[in-house]
Amino acid sequence: MSGPLAGRQMLLGVTGGIAAYKAAYLARRLREHGGTVQVVMTPAATRFIGPDTFAALTGRPVHSDVFEHTEAVLHVRLAHQADVAIVAPATANLLAKLAHGLADDLLTSTLLEFTGPVVIAPAMHIGMWSAPATRHNLETLRERGVRLVGPDEGPLAAGDEGTGRMADPDEIVRAVEEAIGEGGDLAGRHVVVTAGPTHEPIDVVRYLGNRSSGKMGFAVAAEAAARGARVTLVTGPTSLPDPPAVHVERVETAEQMRAAVLAATESADAVVKAAAVADFRPKEAVPGKIKKDAGVPDVLLEPTPDILRELGERKGSRVLVGFAAETGDLDAAGRRKLAPRPRGRERGGRRRNRLRGRHEPGPVDRRRRHERAAADVDEGRAGRGDLRSAGQAAAPLMLAGVTTRG
Ligand SMILES: Cc1cc2nc3c(=O)[nH]c(=O)nc-3n(C[C@H](O)[C@H](O)[C@H](O)COP(=O)(O)O)c2cc1C
Repeated sequence: MSGPLAGRQMLLGVTGGIAAYKAAYLARRLREHGGTVQVVMTPAATRFIGPDTFAALTGRPVHSDVFEHTEAVLHVRLAHQADVAIVAPATANLLAKLAHGLADDLLTSTLLEFTGPVVIAPAMHIGMWSAPATRHNLETLRERGVRLVGPDEGPLAAGDEGTGRMADPDEIVRAVEEAIGEGGDLAGRHVVVTAGPTHEPIDVVRYLGNRSSGKMGFAVAAEAAARGARVTLVTGPTSLPDPPAVHVERVETAEQMRAAVLAATESADAVVKAAAVADFRPKEAVPGKIKKDAGVPDVLLEPTPDILRELGERKGSRVLVGFAAETGDLDAAGRRKLAPRPRGRERGGRRRNRLRGRHEPGPVDRRRRHERAAADVDEGRAGRGDLRSAGQAAAPLMLAGVTTRG
């Protein structure tokens, strides 16, 4: 499992409110994201939901007594182990204690010792929520950098309605992902990643495409976000879900990808071009569907824009990473890619290809072989962060990523 929470140690504090039962689902969701969840309950919370529920969901013992394991000074150990602290639900009482630095139980003692990012999901009755003391405590916590999620509006305990319901657990998970990312080594950086194939329309139902799955670009985007970068992922058609904490722009054609990438690149510190952008497209997309009984059509191809070259021309101090799918002499082909190419050749000639019913190798067939190579790479081993080794692992079809700096 990749993503900002993978491998992270998360401290989940549960306090004594009606919404404590929802924290069980939150614990499960946090664990599903690949991290370790250590639950600490206040004594009041244990009256609302049993510690055994959390122990079973997290696979770890639950603690609620500050004098448990005195030999290990539990609150200090828990605080030092955690990458992020979450309190959900957080009672009015917890907010007040935290704002004033009280440490009279295991959870508040641990939170006072903890120095990392803190995410709090308050939940309480509307009167407690709007009380001036609670407002003041919230302001104090916000000023200290505590990340507050919710509460939401809706039905409350005792048959009332209003603001006070604990935020949806998935919304809390997103806040935790953002909070963790802020401390990463790419914090403050904007990384643009491209992924997937492009589809170049022949008519309204047919297109020229390739077998790229998009997995590599999505993995790179998720890793960059996990390390704190603001990430824009421009992707061609794929069935992959949006990676967490990543801004995703979905496009279809090379032209649309070019527009989205150039716009996003304005503020980017790094651009990783993992997409398998088509090199050729039909010169004209036929409006409507080409009828089968009209015979095999001539499809005139023209080159698509060379996005990587354009980015190279305006790259400034950005890091620019490009990939190429090759067959044959991989090293030599890769080095040729690094050398500046004369503009005239870049444009290429028009190519005429007759799409035939039977198999005859032509430019499109050759192109397909290359695109299949790109797809094989994409299907594969995009490791966490190491683009170069990801490319090399895919040999013999793939040429390693080409990175330029400065
Ligand atoms: C049935 C019941 C429901 C409660 N629900 C909430 C709640 O949703 N939010 C809250 O702030 N306090 C709620 N309380 C009050 C807290 O349980 C009380 O303030 C307690 O001292 C909180 O302790 P803790 O913050 O250490 O968990 C509720 C109390 C009862 C009896």
